[in-house]
Amino acid sequence: MAQLRLDKILASTGRWSRKEVKGLVKEGRVWIDGVPAARGDLKCDPEQNELRVDGAVLSYRPHVYVMLHKPSGILSATEDRRQETVLDLLPPELQKRGLFPVGRLDKDTEGLLLLTDDGPLGHWLLSPKHHVDKVYYVRTAGTLTEEDCAAFAAGLLLEDGFLCLPARLERLSEQEGLVTLHEGKFHQVKRMLASREKPVLYLKRLSMGPLRLDEGLERGKWRYLSEEETAALRRLLP
Ligand code: URA
Repeated sequence: MAQLRLDKILASTGRWSRKEVKGLVKEGRVWIDGVPAARGDLKCDPEQNELRVDGAVLSYRPHVYVMLHKPSGILSATEDRRQETVLDLLPPELQKRGLFPVGRLDKDTEGLLLLTDDGPLGHWLLSPKHHVDKVYYVRTAGTLTEEDCAAFAAGLLLEDGFLCLPARLERLSEQEGLVTLHEGKFHQVKRMLASREKPVLYLKRLSMGPLRLDEGLERGKWRYLSEEETAALRRLLP
């Protein structure tokens, strides 16, 4: 990995502000390969050199990938003056890392949300050019029929004239189904089902591309992606 400035590496963990980092270095509390660092602008490779702060090894992640089980009632945004956002569900050190949600779920939608500070990967996943599959579990007020499935497969025309890409609706019971989309427009699942006069009562995202919501992750909880999950996402990139 490239050589990076020590102060930038420390600040990027989100555990200390730039000012605090300066203080740590000045007080001789930051060590590189067993030697106290003389200055914050020293360059080192966090994957090759051993960095310690107050004796504890610093674990450095060049990028952070977080899976959140978004609960209902929370905004998929990075900040809002009045309402709680998905970032408020993360610990302070992660809140400071500049993570953003990869795609938005409506306030009342639950399920899989990826947050990252990896701009290129996030933007690739969000780009309408790439048609990353998203699977949603849905419960509707009306009965789902074979005709609804056929209409989804043909490509629905929404009220505002938007023509959806062909999508998959799989019936699980009379009023429950799985919807697979290859695009992600605003309120898309709700609008698609509204066009079939089947209002959505409950919506939960189960997967996005190769990433599946961890069944063991309770609503409102988060975890880092595993190496396999991160690698599966990276394999999507050209
Ligand atoms: N479609 C919707 O209607 N809402 C969501 O939150 C996601 C997909």
